[in-house]
Amino acid sequence: MAVSGKGGVGKSSLAATIGRELARLDQRVLLVEMEPGLGAFDLLLGLERGVCSLSDFLDGRCAAKECILSVPGEPGLWAILAPDERDFAYDPPVFAEKMKGLAGSFDFILIETPPGFGLWFEAAKNAADEAVIVATPDLPCLRDGRAVSDRLDERPQIRQRLVINRLDVKLFCQRRPIPHLDFAIDTVGAQLLGVVPEDRELPYRLGAGMALPQQSGAQAACRRIALRLLGQAAKLGV
Ligand SMILES: Nc1ncnc2c1ncn2[C@@H]1O[C@H](COP(=O)(O)OP(=O)(O)OP(=O)(O)O)[C@@H](O)[C@H]1O
Ligand SMILES: [Mg+2]
Repeated sequence: MAVSGKGGVGKSSLAATIGRELARLDQRVLLVEMEPGLGAFDLLLGLERGVCSLSDFLDGRCAAKECILSVPGEPGLWAILAPDERDFAYDPPVFAEKMKGLAGSFDFILIETPPGFGLWFEAAKNAADEAVIVATPDLPCLRDGRAVSDRLDERPQIRQRLVINRLDVKLFCQRRPIPHLDFAIDTVGAQLLGVVPEDRELPYRLGAGMALPQQSGAQAACRRIALRLLGQAAKLGV
């Protein structure tokens, strides 16, 4: 489950890139995009918008195999695209039940929720074992991350971890939007899973449906996050 308080912090970009890295580590990975009417995974993953989306799957209009799209050039990676209907209403028990039904077929199901709270957040919270709170290293975003963490506390069995995205080390050291990275961890109240650098290339690559280049800092950071999700030791690399 990838969540945030604020929008636009990088949930889709990181879910797509971490998903690719997990698949390259021989995992079977399903990406699920929840945001009704505002999906981006088709563009990020080079997928055709199909007839069947998440709403068709949840309402039983399409079978799982019709909604689960295979990501081109990435064996081991699949996606269910966001509902086209802007006003699609999630039913948390149905969502949890449907995800449970898919769990046996995948090693990881990465669910991206829209920012903030709503029925989608409740639905993902009911279904998830782990939550990755994505935040940029500034106080407004981290404070909203804390609000998300507090809501996730309502389901104590969810393991919560934090990913700090878009860190520009030089600018951070010059401007100090927060005193240090430990401050971010203390503010959100979740263990640090990874730190992803600001990458000027990222919007252009991902926006065109391409993976990040192997040598890029953001790609390497997502690789280390994937390794840690697998329980392997990998440095933070900040
Ligand atoms: N590490 C990064 N470096 C540079 N740009 C980034 C980085 N991460 C994300 N971005 C850019 O930030 C913008 C928002 O990213 P993205 O769509 O992944 O956020 P989001 O949290 O999924 O947004 P939403 O809340 O609308 O779903 C995009 O233009 C993306 O390319
Ligand atoms: Mg998104």
